[in-house]
Amino acid sequence: MSAAAPAAAPAAAPAQQQPAFRGVFGFIGGVVANAVSSIFIIMVVAAFVAQHVLDHKNTIAKTHSPEIVLARMLARFEAGSVIPPIEGYHVSRPDAVAMLQAVLRPNKVTRYPVVVGETGCGKTSAVLDAIRPNRTGIVYHIVGAELLVDVPKRLAGSLAFEFNQFTFTAGYFKDRGVEMEQVTSAAEPFKSWAILDLSLRDVAAQFKAKHGHVATLVIDAVDEIDKQGSELLHAIQKFAKSAADEQLLNVVLVTCDGSNLPALKESSAMTRARVVEVGDLTDQQAVTYLVRRDIHEDLAKRAVAEIAGGRLILLNNLADDLQFKTVEQISTQLSIQTADSLQDVIDYSEMHNATSAVHKSLCDLTHGALHINIVHRSLGKDLTKKLLATNINILAYHPNDTYTLHSRHVQRSVAALLNCTTP
Ligand SMILES: Nc1ncnc2c1ncn2[C@@H]1O[C@H](COP(=O)(O)OP(=O)(O)OP(=O)(O)O)[C@@H](O)[C@H]1O
Ligand SMILES: [Mg+2]
Repeated sequence: MSAAAPAAAPAAAPAQQQPAFRGVFGFIGGVVANAVSSIFIIMVVAAFVAQHVLDHKNTIAKTHSPEIVLARMLARFEAGSVIPPIEGYHVSRPDAVAMLQAVLRPNKVTRYPVVVGETGCGKTSAVLDAIRPNRTGIVYHIVGAELLVDVPKRLAGSLAFEFNQFTFTAGYFKDRGVEMEQVTSAAEPFKSWAILDLSLRDVAAQFKAKHGHVATLVIDAVDEIDKQGSELLHAIQKFAKSAADEQLLNVVLVTCDGSNLPALKESSAMTRARVVEVGDLTDQQAVTYLVRRDIHEDLAKRAVAEIAGGRLILLNNLADDLQFKTVEQISTQLSIQTADSLQDVIDYSEMHNATSAVHKSLCDLTHGALHINIVHRSLGKDLTKKLLATNINILAYHPNDTYTLHSRHVQRSVAALLNCTTP
């Protein structure tokens, strides 16, 4: 007998009847659900970001409105710039400091002060000494080695002023008689300077109205601006002049005289300048300085008499050099430099011919200051200009319209090189 045929498999349950169909629909449903939830999440995130950006914009718009920006600058003037403490071997210079304090806080602003002095004579330190006891109402800024385009931006930093797209509107400029286009179309650094110029005027007026006297803005080392072109320097001078004319702000410019005064003088705004000079230390103060820098008093006296006089930058170098060189070695080295400088600009025979006007005039200068007219006549304007240049450093200009030789060691070297007789 044959084996019974296997029983037919039971019919598939409805749920198992169309697996492909269910799979496809399940998959599509999943994708749709995922897409919907992703879109939802994206929309929530986008709404959150948009809200945040809007809030941020509103906050910036509020904190960078002209009123807030100017209020910060006013607060900076009221508090004054923070001045670093003095160094241990600091020599006090009461005369220079008193003179500068009068410059920083004038009874009446009629002219803007230009503080001049030879490179390294202590201008910056003396100005800081003058501000330190009472800094209120004075903002101090020193120009560094930055590019010309960055000069107004750095100055703005010292003034707690922020340039920002929300800061100034067409209305702001119109109120001040300036078309916004005029400013925005200008190239840097003049664009930034124009905005700073207007804002400074506003703040200076607010300060004066509130305190009954003008604030002071010191811009030190303006010769650094001139090195890259004098147009911005002249714009700053023009501002200083009109601030003085309107008795709005006391703008004090500090510069090296020999190198920079001619550039400053090219500006017609120089007619409103009041030039004051920071000179050297007295010989006695110079000896005190070297003794404080651990140089024996006898050596200090000789080094001052023969090399540095009261020129601080030279004293500073001497304090280091005298640790491992003698006065003679240093003098010889400096004398060679002076001889090289002279040879670069003066004809040998003219320099050594005792009857030539150049020889006579240089020898006269070894005995003291000469009026600029005398020097221009005997040396000629071209040669005078060359001898004034900072890489030559033979002559020094003084605001009382005189020239002297540049420093004590130049005086001694010229006398020796030219065989000048004692007076
Ligand atoms: N009263 C002082 N006592 C001691 N050291 C000083 C004094 N004044 C200036 N110095 C030092 O002399 C050097 C030159 O000073 P300072 O930088 O003030 O001169 P400056 O005339 O501003 O120079 P520059 O022409 O380069 O701007 C600095 O090293 C400074 O620390
Ligand atoms: Mg300086």
